[in-house]
Amino acid sequence: MYLVLMGLPGAGKGTQAERIVEKYGIPHISTGDMFRAAIKEETPLGLEAKSYMDAGNLVPDEVTIGIVRDRLSKKDCEKGFLLDGFPRTVAQAEALEEITQELSRKIDYVLNISVDSDKLMQRLTGRRICQTCGSTYHVIFNPPKVEGVCDKDGGTLIQRQDDNEETVRNRLDVNMKQAKPLLDFYGDKGYLKNINGDQDIDKVFQDIDQLIGGLAK
Ligand code: AP5
Repeated sequence: MYLVLMGLPGAGKGTQAERIVEKYGIPHISTGDMFRAAIKEETPLGLEAKSYMDAGNLVPDEVTIGIVRDRLSKKDCEKGFLLDGFPRTVAQAEALEEITQELSRKIDYVLNISVDSDKLMQRLTGRRICQTCGSTYHVIFNPPKVEGVCDKDGGTLIQRQDDNEETVRNRLDVNMKQAKPLLDFYGDKGYLKNINGDQDIDKVFQDIDQLIGGLAK
């Protein structure tokens, strides 16, 4: 299955992606995670992406499209993939159409997780991430069993650098501007499916699972 997860920052893309890839065994391709890994390793890509990410702006299309093109050409993406956070602009969506055509693949669904924008600030500023395995928690909505410690591997939970109020505000503004044309693009193509992200985490997954389950048969 070839899937795209869309939604504003904090909508729950990463949280749902963890569950989807665990159940369906497809690679999780998050452009945000790829950029964060490059920053950690201090590669030229990381150095370029850092200033955009720290400010909550989008990394330029040509850079982002390039890394996705390379990643989707890898062998593990032949039978399926889950794109998380890409595309985020119409130019990226057009490039994805080209890339999938070149690879003789077709996107099955674009899952748009929608959440009332007033709730996103609280979701993002309360988010905690495992430093070792990247699992996502929330201090109120999805707390770990022991404060500050990952349930899965005992790793330390940290706050993402771009989850401070000022950067979140800009991330929300920037992404809201891009959302409408992108939703129109996929609405016209007929692969858009809206998911109500304003429910508890398990219920959101249940809705997604019901929709994509048929693709795995
Ligand atoms: P990226 O890492 O993709 O961040 P984002 O889009 O801002 O999305 P988030 O990861 O913040 O949110 P999410 O939807 O995954 O929410 P989560 O599941 O964690 O991108 C970071 C940066 O990289 C961008 O700003 C940009 O600079 C750059 N970038 C990335 N892709 C790019 C692209 N294509 N083009 C250009 N630049 C790009 O959930 C959030 C919190 O809410 C968690 O604490 C979670 O526990 C909680 N939560 C989740 N679901 C629920 C629920 N149903 N109820 C209650 N709480 C919930």
